[in-house]
Amino acid sequence: MTIILGIESSCDETGVGIVRLGADGSVELLADEVASSVEQHARFGGVVPEVASRAHLEAMVPTMRRAFDVAGLRLSDVDAIAVTCGPGLAGALLVGVSAAKAYALSLGVPLYGVNHLAGHVAADTLEHGALPSPSLALLVSGGHSQLLRVDDVASRITEIGSTIDDAAGEAYDKVARVLDLPYPGGPPIDKAAQRGNPRAIAFPRGLTGPRDARHDFSFSGLKTSVARWVEAQERAGAAIPVDDVAASFQEAVADVLTAKAVRAATDLDITTLIISGGVAANSRLKQLAAERCAAAGITLRVPRPRLCTDNGAMIAALGAHLVATGVTPSSLDLTTDPALPVSVISV
Ligand code: KG4
Ligand code: ZN
Repeated sequence: MTIILGIESSCDETGVGIVRLGADGSVELLADEVASSVEQHARFGGVVPEVASRAHLEAMVPTMRRAFDVAGLRLSDVDAIAVTCGPGLAGALLVGVSAAKAYALSLGVPLYGVNHLAGHVAADTLEHGALPSPSLALLVSGGHSQLLRVDDVASRITEIGSTIDDAAGEAYDKVARVLDLPYPGGPPIDKAAQRGNPRAIAFPRGLTGPRDARHDFSFSGLKTSVARWVEAQERAGAAIPVDDVAASFQEAVADVLTAKAVRAATDLDITTLIISGGVAANSRLKQLAAERCAAAGITLRVPRPRLCTDNGAMIAALGAHLVATGVTPSSLDLTTDPALPVSVISV
């Protein structure tokens, strides 16, 4: 039995997770504590890196204490530590990595610097067990929109496609601003969309033409198109049908994400799709993905929302898979890499 501590600080959530790795390779979640600085960023309409770093610094030790209380464990019970070392905000990553190094050094346990994106994939194993090989992962958050081929979450992940401009969550946040809805924009748009007509306005589906990159995404044109449409209404002195705009925008996002994910799975002959990241909480995305996966004979796995957004449990889970696979730990010279490619699962 092995206890693994996971630390996450790549964006605006300070996450501490604790898992138990069983002798049979099973991973059990013992604690998942998160402190978010999202409210401190709300008035800026996006994450302010310096504010996030300071918030991590303040939240790290209290969040750690809460996680150990919930798990009913002590620091001395920890056998290994995993920490996000990239990709993410440089200053924010530094807080988690520095904390992890200090804990690893003082406890005399191995340290694993891990990839945040691989962590999002590993999160699903906490809910649905081991991943079939290969699996396809659709990661959709405020910072990322990617399609990944996952042969082994601990050792082999390959990028199949990604956004060439905005991330899906970023588009939600920007469109929310245009509609005078609060930040982060995903939840209020999702709610408004449920009252609106998804066919009211025909917004563009980026990169879906016959000559466009098959597996890449683009959301910047969609965001601009929504902004232009709203501006035109305002110029004409007409009221903005917020619910219809939200529903039509959301339909365009969900349509493109699910169509491209199913197409990639079919192209690569993969029959399991995992959707993770903050946008995986979206009601229409989940509904359309379920319909299209069922029609294509693909098994869909979406972790519960709490595991989809940034957290420490996913980092602990990834750490457990690395320990189980016998991957060499990182050195205490470990550095952060804000642009760490997804193919580098641990450093
Ligand atoms: O994974 P996450 O918590 O943090 C990042 O790594 O970015 O994702 C946050 C993003 C935000 O852009 C937020 O607007 C979006 O996820 N989001 C949603 C929903 N809930 C959160 N987007 C669409 N629908 C939702 N229900
Ligand atoms: Zn994330």
